[in-house]
Amino acid sequence: MMQEADARSPDRWWRNGVVYQVYPRSFQDSDGDGIGDLQGIRHRLDYLAELGIDALWISPVFPSPMADFGYDVADYCDIDRSFGTLSDFDALVADVHARGLKLIVDFVPSHTSDRHPWFIASRSGRESPKRAWYLWRDPAADGGPPNNWLSNFGGPAWTFDAASGQYYGHTFLKDQPDLNWRHPGVRAAMLEAMRFWLRRGVDGFRLDVLYHVVKDALFRDNPPNPAFVPGMDPSQRLLPVHTADRPEVQDVLAEMRRVVDAFSDRASTRVLIAETYLPIERLTAYYGSDAQGALRGAHLPFNFHLIGVPWQAEAIDRLVRRYEAALPEGAAPNWCSGNHDRSRIASRVGPAGARLAAMLLLTLRGTPTLYYGDELGLGDVAIAADDVQDPLERNQPGLGLGRDPVRTPMPWSDLPQAGFTTGRPWLRLNGDWARRNVAAQTADAGSMLQLYRRLLALRRQHPALHCGAWLPLGVSGDLLVYARVRDDERIVIALNFGAGNVEVPPGLVAPAAQVWLSTALDREGELAGRPMLRPHEGLILGS
Ligand code: NOJ
Repeated sequence: MMQEADARSPDRWWRNGVVYQVYPRSFQDSDGDGIGDLQGIRHRLDYLAELGIDALWISPVFPSPMADFGYDVADYCDIDRSFGTLSDFDALVADVHARGLKLIVDFVPSHTSDRHPWFIASRSGRESPKRAWYLWRDPAADGGPPNNWLSNFGGPAWTFDAASGQYYGHTFLKDQPDLNWRHPGVRAAMLEAMRFWLRRGVDGFRLDVLYHVVKDALFRDNPPNPAFVPGMDPSQRLLPVHTADRPEVQDVLAEMRRVVDAFSDRASTRVLIAETYLPIERLTAYYGSDAQGALRGAHLPFNFHLIGVPWQAEAIDRLVRRYEAALPEGAAPNWCSGNHDRSRIASRVGPAGARLAAMLLLTLRGTPTLYYGDELGLGDVAIAADDVQDPLERNQPGLGLGRDPVRTPMPWSDLPQAGFTTGRPWLRLNGDWARRNVAAQTADAGSMLQLYRRLLALRRQHPALHCGAWLPLGVSGDLLVYARVRDDERIVIALNFGAGNVEVPPGLVAPAAQVWLSTALDREGELAGRPMLRPHEGLILGS
């Protein structure tokens, strides 16, 4: 059982605070082009500050042909005109900091856009000084791709360049050629791009697919995945042993860490949040460790395991225990229940489940990352075939892989287009936007938004909730009970994952405890005794 050393000192914001992911295209448009932008985010900062979050992570806003909506970067040191300008960015940083919040930008180290000048030069011929900045290989003996590696977005991970007679590698779209991080020039240029944003005042980076940045030096074939069955994502046909989570990735991470550490001081730590879709025992390796055993990798290697876990008390209890046990000493845990790539929590577990999920996410030990719109209970929005934007869906239609449904505009009010834009939104709004929007939920005392506000406020107010130990108190049937404990404070959280009433077993809740919060927002102050939970209800009990 781990106990945090101190609470809210400024250099610990990333351990004790809450991160909120903004998908900039969909948050707030300020110029009527139907695409959210930096000025739009600035207009909504008061909303975020009042919600009670501590840091915003914004998905990529750099110049990009938008083949993968910004995850194909054509210039690491500028802002795409659809989002604004560098001065808009500077103004955003200033406004974020003025509210005591932090700003995390998305850094895409694994690949560039094929329109990036580096790749244009690399592609110009085998003699180009930039040739080795990317992964170029001769064809196999039969003229086909050099090995069997698959793109995560469908088809082979290799595209033939007829002019030079070689293939280049890409883990994602052919418009996203993979960088060669073994090349010192690539390392120097990319680390310098990180410094560019650190000098502009960003508080850290979310590192896109960090675990993919280095591939096997010998370009060996990946072995078949024995667990693959038809119907699964076709890119999972092979085990990515030579293309993901290579030991060399740790060296890259250590270099990135040195870069952010050089910009950190007692007043503010600049952080690395790594995208790590990996089993628990592998993602914990991304905390890194130097010769003395100090953690010198990512401050927060993303823990995505709540996204896939069966929605049952026992499975969740087991997951939390496993994760807690696997964490290296001193490591900061973290949790999230969705993002711009995965089905929204409200669609996965239903509206009542989503309330329970909010309580779970905000009461587990560690930094939660919230996904914009989840605080309204927004679900996946069906997108008609003709309106599909996501290349993943376009490349492999009908497999259910598309991510447009989770990237729809934030509904702010019942104004036209939900106050998101004065133009035509780039993706349609949720069908129920006239009722499910920020203004309506602000006015409704029982809304999901009010639940989030209460949860965030309680979490901020009580050290046990933002930095206390996690103490499992057991599972009985559909009921999961745990406590958060710090010094004399002991707060019990009881979550009912079932459709029937359940009673908290005797002895777990102090006799004088009260209900501090119910997911239904209607029991505050009730004496706890042996509390009964209604179907899908969660309670926070304290004294
Ligand atoms: C992971 C990002 O979250 C996803 O949106 C993107 O398509 C891929 N990386 C490629 O950059």
